Amino acid sequence: MMPVRRDVHPHLPPERICDWHQRGRHVTHFINALSIFFPAGERFFMDSVRNYRDRIADPELKQAVAGFIGQEAMHTREHILYNRLLDDVGLPAGKLDSRVASLLNLLRKILPKSWQLAHTIALEHYTAMLAAGVLADPRQMGDSEPGYRQVWTWHALEETEHKAVAYDVWNVVMKPGPYRYFVRTFTMLTTTVTFWAMVFVFHVRLVMADKSCRNKLLGFGSVMNFLWGSPGTLRKMIPEWFAYFRPGFHPWDDDNRAELSRIAPLISEIEDTAIRAGASTRAPSIRSVA
Ligand SMILES: [Fe+2]
Ligand SMILES: [Fe+2]
Repeated sequence: MMPVRRDVHPHLPPERICDWHQRGRHVTHFINALSIFFPAGERFFMDSVRNYRDRIADPELKQAVAGFIGQEAMHTREHILYNRLLDDVGLPAGKLDSRVASLLNLLRKILPKSWQLAHTIALEHYTAMLAAGVLADPRQMGDSEPGYRQVWTWHALEETEHKAVAYDVWNVVMKPGPYRYFVRTFTMLTTTVTFWAMVFVFHVRLVMADKSCRNKLLGFGSVMNFLWGSPGTLRKMIPEWFAYFRPGFHPWDDDNRAELSRIAPLISEIEDTAIRAGASTRAPSIRSVA
């Protein structure tokens, strides 16, 4: 599985940023809250893998690392543009993004590089689990606004394509044994608590700031149903979350590579959608993303 960088720029109609999901504004903002994590998060992933680049001798893994970094840089760029749409309608995406950046900068300062990479492989497992759900079940966003569905599906496909890269680096650079297992699993536990606590707070902040979001309390019920009832995005992730604690775990134990045949047709669809909307298929240039 060799990840390659693809310069993709889905067209996101700005007027739909608060209600692009088929289940309405509350679920839209739950997924928008996830988007806020990506620019700072994926920079952290790229850096923590780059820290070990010199230690990788295997040419295939070297090439996979280059593909991984290229893909995460493209995701970062597209999520910066996505999150700007939230800021443009008065939602606090920029402010929340700088909170994520500050937290990750603190981790860069206080944690050894191995622990930084451990956070990356835990969060890459999260993105792979979320991606697998989006790809396996069209009820997750199949009837949503096409551009937003496309950006998340493209991201999900590439997260699947590179899901083992950081993990393979980890296995090469960390000596096997109880300490490696402890750091990997302990970090998954702490990441689970902090990540979901932050997603919850960010989601609430977006919903509260969106003046058109009515029935705020009832809306959280619809998100709970989406996550734990039908389609049950989080409920369905539980077995894969536990799988991470197997001593011999590897991301490709869950072999969903057949999904990757969707990448080429999706990219054509993304371009068609943008052209039909009279939008550019190329991203505007923004400050360095990698
Ligand atoms: Fe990504
Ligand atoms: Fe990733």
